[in-house]
Amino acid sequence: MSKYLVQKSGPLSGEVFISGSKNAVLPIMAASILTAGECELYEVPALRDVEVMSRLLQSVGAEVQEDYDSSSLTIKISHVLSEEAPYELVKKMRASILVMGPLLARTGKARIALPGGCAIGARPIDLHLKGFQALGAEIIESHGMVEAKADKLVGANIYLDFPSVGATENIMMAASLAEGTTILENVAEEPEIVDLANFLNKMGARIKGAGTDTIKIEGVRELGGTKHSVIPDRIETGTFMVAAAITRGNILIHNAVPDHVKPVIAKLRECGVVVEYNDESILVKGDVNPLISTDIKTLPYPGFPTDMQSQFMALLATVKGSSTVMETVFENRYMHIGELNRMGANIKIEGRSAVVEGEKTLLGAQVLATDLRAGAALVLAGLMAEGVTEISEIYHIERGYEKFLSKFRGLGATIIRIED
Ligand code: EPZ
Repeated sequence: MSKYLVQKSGPLSGEVFISGSKNAVLPIMAASILTAGECELYEVPALRDVEVMSRLLQSVGAEVQEDYDSSSLTIKISHVLSEEAPYELVKKMRASILVMGPLLARTGKARIALPGGCAIGARPIDLHLKGFQALGAEIIESHGMVEAKADKLVGANIYLDFPSVGATENIMMAASLAEGTTILENVAEEPEIVDLANFLNKMGARIKGAGTDTIKIEGVRELGGTKHSVIPDRIETGTFMVAAAITRGNILIHNAVPDHVKPVIAKLRECGVVVEYNDESILVKGDVNPLISTDIKTLPYPGFPTDMQSQFMALLATVKGSSTVMETVFENRYMHIGELNRMGANIKIEGRSAVVEGEKTLLGAQVLATDLRAGAALVLAGLMAEGVTEISEIYHIERGYEKFLSKFRGLGATIIRIED
């Protein structure tokens, strides 16, 4: 298993360019199943998760051409050869579930291995299935597989019990080819939902309201191929913003969308970090003021993103004063606390919250990445910790951050990758 050895690195400084969004490109790739036409995607990040999604699309009959040098991807599914997402692919990536809605809409059938839970929670798919049923699909679960079948999908009024990102995306894709109108309420409002809706509308779909809590979809008979540039990754953006803060450095972040990271900007400013931005870049200065504590509560967009919780917690362990962090989106997204405490942090879980005692001198230690963002948080902590931090299970990190090492090294970080 490969590991990172992270040395204490002086204040990070310099410029970094944000890659295309992992959580936008994955549903958009799945949406290409909805048409026999050719879809050309640009700003596609070279990630393992994109590779897994490509293989999944190929397994259902897609021709996929990847050109990572130009960050582009071409997908064409003239005929769907299989309506099944096999377990060996689904177990690698939960987002495989996003092919279910498109397969059901295109072929009338979809068979997906039930995605298991993961470190951050059980991650059920009941809201996805409830949406498909509302559109007229029959759902059968057996032997670890779930199957949806429908002679035709008919538009419906659907209320999501929780604004689930994946369920919103899956149901929106299925409803695009349903007969009649679907009104989806209490939906996720993330920028990735808007990017998917824009892609679908370019294919000929008729979707209104993406980015608000209600989306109206007027089904059409068929969709065509199109070209689309994926939005920048707001969580990668937030991760580098926190990197500037925790190392008391000064980083200029290019190809960012400030509007997508407003909660992170607000919270960093509460800590005393100086953040300036224009329409495509963000300058973060952690070296102007002494940094102080603040409180964080994760919420669905436009609230503070759960995917930034662990990175921000690492920062809060180093600032003056104690902070409270409340994770409300996932039921078990505190696995990084034990690892941060092994590095000298003092973080206690009290009910659904964590209390972070600040101004701790972090010390290098052997730690474990438990999920993508927890891994990134440990790298950030390692940049501040005395000595060397050895991080294992780094495949979590490399599945979701393009050119992770080279971007951090370009800012002055000392990180070595070793094969164990
Ligand atoms: C997406 O996951 C992201 N992944 C996650 O990013 C992100 O943390 C999450 O949204 C929340 O913003 C991708 O977009 C590929 P949810 P998703 O459905 O769609 C419950 C990362 O680090 N729920 O919004 O799986 C669920 O258990 C990853 O890039 C149900 O109960 O998230 C969770 O508690 C991690 N039933 C909450 O909703 C359902 O049917 C939010 O899940 C679906 C979800």
